[in-house]
Amino acid sequence: MAQITSFIRWAGGKSWLVPYVKELIEGLDYNNYFEPFMGGASIFFSMEHPHQSYLSDINPELVNTFCAIKDDPQAVISFIKGYRSDEESYYKIRRSNPKNYFEIAARFLYLNANSFNGIYRVNRQGQYNVPYGKKEKNVNCDRLIEISEKLQNVDIQCQDFYKIRDLINKRDLVFLDPPYTVSKNNNHFFIQYNQHLFSLDDQYRLADLIEYIISQNAWFILTNAHNSAILEIFQSTGRVIEKERKSLIGGKNAFRGNVQEYIFTNIPERN
Ligand SMILES: C[S@@+](CC[C@H](N)C(=O)[O-])C[C@H]1O[C@@H](n2cnc3c(N)ncnc32)[C@H](O)[C@@H]1O
Repeated sequence: MAQITSFIRWAGGKSWLVPYVKELIEGLDYNNYFEPFMGGASIFFSMEHPHQSYLSDINPELVNTFCAIKDDPQAVISFIKGYRSDEESYYKIRRSNPKNYFEIAARFLYLNANSFNGIYRVNRQGQYNVPYGKKEKNVNCDRLIEISEKLQNVDIQCQDFYKIRDLINKRDLVFLDPPYTVSKNNNHFFIQYNQHLFSLDDQYRLADLIEYIISQNAWFILTNAHNSAILEIFQSTGRVIEKERKSLIGGKNAFRGNVQEYIFTNIPERN
């Protein structure tokens, strides 16, 4: 059971990039694997990593969900089985404030499946405020068992991305997928749905981390917004690749269509 798809819908999810990342790392003899902006961790789930994997993210509810599924998927499933997917139930569950570790994860998965476009968005009080998605959806409980198996022996932390620095050693592979930075005039950037905005300063911290990764003779793959500020910050780190993707961020005012994305990496090109 090596390659599976993510179990959540996540803004900026990279399932579309899986074939390219596979191509990029084909034959690469890497050691430990890091995904410090895990989100739905689509790259992690899509392949088998040879050694220890480290997943982390700054979103506590997301990380709690990963940990609960890893620890006891049946406990999560037993709460999910008690939920109904109609609109009234959705708002009731959205208003609820469970304290049990597994129930919090079940609620997160339920809201992710049934909310509008699976967006994660909270108000100033930290309460999830995405409306009902109008398509009744059940959480795929069989998948959660598979996911749990895949997460065994994986180190999962709720933390800022920079914290992985001290763990990186020679031949490790780090996949970096930060949220897009929202510029002053919103030029070239898509709407940031997350609670945590990623500032330009964060991008510079990321550049610093990448410098460290390179200095350790480890590898990185960075995917980031296609704009001149990002190019300027990261172009000296290695190869620059442009990729086109379909924008799936929905909503009435959302942008749909093909958008470019930058990939930066120090993995050498194969002839
Ligand atoms: C583009 S999403 C990652 C998507 C993921 N690659 C996937 O396939 O689903 C970016 C993630 O970075 C997280 N994040 C934002 N700021 C962060 C920070 N300072 N440190 C770590 N994670 C952060 C967000 O919570 C979000 O889950």
